[in-house]
Amino acid sequence: MTAMARLEGRIAFVTGAGSIGPGWGNGKAAAVLFAREGAAVVCTDINADAAEETAALVRQEGGRALALQGDITKAEAVEAMVARACKEFGGIDILHNNVGTLELGGPVEASLESWNRVMTINVTSMFLTCKYVLPVMVERKNGAIVNVSSVVAITSVGPHYVSYSASKAAVNQLTRAVAIQYAPHGIRANAIMPGLMRTPMVEKTLGAGMSSDEVEAMIRRRDAACPSGRMGDAWDVAKAALFLASDDAAYVTGQILAVDGGLTLKSAAF
Ligand SMILES: NC(=O)c1ccc[n+]([C@@H]2O[C@H](COP(=O)([O-])OP(=O)(O)OC[C@H]3O[C@@H](n4cnc5c(N)ncnc54)[C@H](O)[C@@H]3O)[C@@H](O)[C@H]2O)c1
Repeated sequence: MTAMARLEGRIAFVTGAGSIGPGWGNGKAAAVLFAREGAAVVCTDINADAAEETAALVRQEGGRALALQGDITKAEAVEAMVARACKEFGGIDILHNNVGTLELGGPVEASLESWNRVMTINVTSMFLTCKYVLPVMVERKNGAIVNVSSVVAITSVGPHYVSYSASKAAVNQLTRAVAIQYAPHGIRANAIMPGLMRTPMVEKTLGAGMSSDEVEAMIRRRDAACPSGRMGDAWDVAKAALFLASDDAAYVTGQILAVDGGLTLKSAAF
């Protein structure tokens, strides 16, 4: 017997479906994996080329994809992208909220502008996508929302970034608040907390200003910090997202799933 594709007939709206550098970011891998499992995918990104690159990858593999450019922190842009997705594909079943950014610094070092930017990109973006996608899902009496958080919502992995940590803690509780309110409508909301992952964001953001040797040393430190001895990658996050987006997780809502190779089990004392 052939297994049915797990998202056959579904329509997925993925935010940040591109990647800030060459290789596989979390949103890009999720968009491609959702399509491989039968979903039509709306690849949204602030960077038109990055959105189109992911959509083209999906089409090359025989899938259905629509690339949409827009800033996910702007209400009008989100409203327009949701409307366009519904017009093109007939609705939205899966909302994959992947956009997120990181800026270094504690309350003394970070500027108010940096704090506001991170909170807006990481939290307000999810408020806005939920605002415009939930009514579509309510009408369909079905929906799955997957929010990309981070283990730094609940622990420290070394660097100090107060806005990033606080924003991801907000993502976790936003997820739970939506899950309880919309459970009666057949809509589920869950979050994933990736641990230390090897994505283009690591070199680009954490490695900014470092020499290639320093970046290599940072990568070795990140690998060594994981109980598994290696960082995860975008596919680890995408596979967890696939589970939460699919009917395999039909009775799972309001959960915050760490995808971290055991990182959050570790105490600094050991
Ligand atoms: N990479 C890691 O190690 C790691 C660890 C934990 C959590 N995460 C989380 O995973 C998510 C994705 O991270 P990544 O490193 O794969 O992504 P990334 O930095 O490669 O970004 C993905 C895409 O988001 C787009 N984007 C940025 N701002 C946007 C905006 N305002 N509107 C629309 N699109 C926008 C970018 O153009 C990019 O193509 C984030 O939420 C991040 O916090 C990553």
